[in-house]
Amino acid sequence: MLRSNSVKIGALALVGFALPSFGQIVGSAHDFSSMAWSDGEICKPCHTPHNAITGMPRLWNHTLTTATYDMHEGSGTAELDFDTTSRLCLSCHDGTVALDSFGGNNGSSFIGGKQKLGTDLTNDHPVGSDAEYPPESGGGSWSTRFRDKSTFPSSVRLKTWTSKDTGNVIDVVSCATCHNVHNRYGHDDLLTLDNSASALCLTCHIK
Ligand code: HEC
Ligand code: HEC
Ligand code: HEC
Ligand code: HEC
Repeated sequence: MLRSNSVKIGALALVGFALPSFGQIVGSAHDFSSMAWSDGEICKPCHTPHNAITGMPRLWNHTLTTATYDMHEGSGTAELDFDTTSRLCLSCHDGTVALDSFGGNNGSSFIGGKQKLGTDLTNDHPVGSDAEYPPESGGGSWSTRFRDKSTFPSSVRLKTWTSKDTGNVIDVVSCATCHNVHNRYGHDDLLTLDNSASALCLTCHIK
């Protein structure tokens, strides 16, 4: 019996290798269920089935950042300068809103270490209004050194950003272009594409 079981397990492991890998949020960096501040739930720090924050998509439950940022192209605000998803990410990752500020609570545990991007985003990859895709031509000689977005793998997706001044809607690089919040693809750092040999960077940059 023991022996035939181990043969079966061996065969299953092989099948596992042959299939594309799918990740999940359980056990990922975004599974907060074991953290003291989380209320023991996985989804609740970010989503709620009822009484979600109005005006936000995805039944959003986490208090939104209203910070002002140093950006690559000057000063910017959470409300005006980001695609919606990046704003949701920054609502924990800029360190201005507590992790346990969800469901209307006023929390007191803040993100720290490398996970905290802060409000100076000039040392981070451009997102939102800083990162139109492809960049406007005339933005310097390297603005032509970008791949056509039709060549992107399906997991790498741009988001739209709407200018409140002009009403123009443009495609931009978002936090969610490079990361999947639910760890759907199972790569390190919740990435949307394994970045070995800089594959993610080379999706866009012709270098
Ligand atoms: C750390 C915050 C966070 C946690 C925890 C989280 N989500 Fe999300 N979820 C998001 C964000 C941000 C989006 C929007 C993603 C986008 O716009 O690309 C989203 C989008 C979704 C969507 C819309 C479809 C999609 O995948 O974009 C569903 C459904 C969803 N989440 C369900 C869940 C469920 C169920 C759980 C718990 C098992 C969960 N989420 C946990 C942040 C979170
Ligand atoms: C509810 C707060 C919250 C929201 C919203 C949130 N995060 Fe996080 N995120 C965290 C915390 C806390 C950690 C660190 C967990 C730990 O200590 O390992 C983290 C870790 C990460 C990591 C590191 C992953 C790793 O494997 O180490 C990445 C990347 C990340 N988040 C990206 C995002 C992106 C992109 C979004 C938006 C789509 C987002 N986060 C939204 C709280 C949040
Ligand atoms: C152009 C792709 C890209 C974009 C856009 C991007 N990231 Fe990342 N991020 C990465 C890569 C790649 C890593 C892996 C660590 C490394 O290589 O330095 C990472 C790492 C992280 C980490 C782990 C801490 C660290 O420094 O290693 C966090 C947290 C994070 N990103 C959050 C975000 C948030 C929030 C946004 C949006 C404001 C964002 N990222 C936008 C590519 C990106
Ligand atoms: C989805 C497309 C995309 C991906 C993936 C991507 N980039 Fe970019 N990158 C951009 C865009 C758009 C800009 C902004 C161009 C502009 O308007 O100036 C940019 C800007 C930059 C800049 C210039 C920042 C500055 O100071 O002006 C560097 C350096 C860079 N990216 C490196 C990387 C690296 C490294 C990776 C991989 C971790 C990466 N990019 C992944 C689209 C992308």
